[in-house]
Amino acid sequence: MKQSKHTQRVQAFIGIAAGLTLAVIGINTGQAYNAYSDGCNQASCHGDFRGPTTRKGTVFPMGKNHEMHRDGASMATDCELCHTTGGRTPVYIGSSDGVGTVTGVGCSGCHVGSGLRKHHATRGVTACYSGGAGCHGTGTADNPPKENVISPPYYGTAYTLAEHPANTAQVANTNENWSVGDFWGLDNDGNGLADQADYTIGPFSMLTPVPVGNDIRVTWQTAGGRTNTVQAASIVTGTYTNIGSAVRRTNAGVFTTNYLDVGGANKAARFYRIKSTYP
Ligand code: HEC
Ligand code: HEC
Repeated sequence: MKQSKHTQRVQAFIGIAAGLTLAVIGINTGQAYNAYSDGCNQASCHGDFRGPTTRKGTVFPMGKNHEMHRDGASMATDCELCHTTGGRTPVYIGSSDGVGTVTGVGCSGCHVGSGLRKHHATRGVTACYSGGAGCHGTGTADNPPKENVISPPYYGTAYTLAEHPANTAQVANTNENWSVGDFWGLDNDGNGLADQADYTIGPFSMLTPVPVGNDIRVTWQTAGGRTNTVQAASIVTGTYTNIGSAVRRTNAGVFTTNYLDVGGANKAARFYRIKSTYP
């Protein structure tokens, strides 16, 4: 069996997200969303904070969003990062008691305002903007930086395990991943794509080159909207040439895909990389 190694390359890419599934909710409570109970808790939105699932299908550990956020076996967020003196409810979105040296800014300590508003607007939820309950202008005013530039204020503090907004790790119970069965993390920059599918922060991984008889099957993971081409070279610093044709994934989401390099295992050495562009 010949030795096979791999490298990967992610090219810079810009573009507009396409193919998103929009959840359109026409709610007008005529009320500002100061507290979770002012409307976020409606059944058609995020529901009871102690509920087991969310709109996008996230399944919470210990059966509750509340427990995912606060339980020591999970995100372990200090109560006072969300709660305010004078009773456990209401819970304010933008203010809380805080703890230690961490100033309490409620949910927005992790779900930062500009990204959260843009996320809702991108998803077709207009309640935050004029025309809906409308406190935040037109919905185009927010232009948060991409997720590997901003870090929410609570992230990485001693009072929560949440850290790394541009989370691409496929590991449970770290960074932004505590929900059951997925590694999506959050959409902190509001472009409508959770981390694993967010081309602006480049999650993209070569999984394995595995020999199959005389051939090598190259497997990698990619996200909707990207165009990938498998390339190979005979030395790691060599010239990589396309061995597969460019394949574009059109739907939103994350895909595992593969390419069979016929005769690849017969080569003295073979190095692979995946070229990824958007769109
Ligand atoms: C991530 C933010 C967050 C953290 C951290 C958090 N909570 Fe909550 N909590 C909420 C929200 C949101 C509600 C629901 C409020 C509503 O629906 O009005 C809530 C509701 C509650 C309630 C009232 C409902 C019930 O379950 O009886 C209690 C009591 C409570 N929390 C206690 C705690 C304690 C104790 C901690 C720390 C161990 C904690 N919370 C940590 C956000 C949080
Ligand atoms: C310490 C950081 C932190 C704070 C504070 C926080 N959250 Fe979260 N929240 C997260 C992270 C990280 C996730 C994603 C976890 C995952 O998917 O594994 C999340 C997930 C969620 C989700 C599920 C999103 C989805 O569709 O999957 C909702 C809803 C939510 N938070 C609401 C709130 C509310 C309301 C508050 C304030 C009461 C709050 N959060 C405070 C970090 C935080």
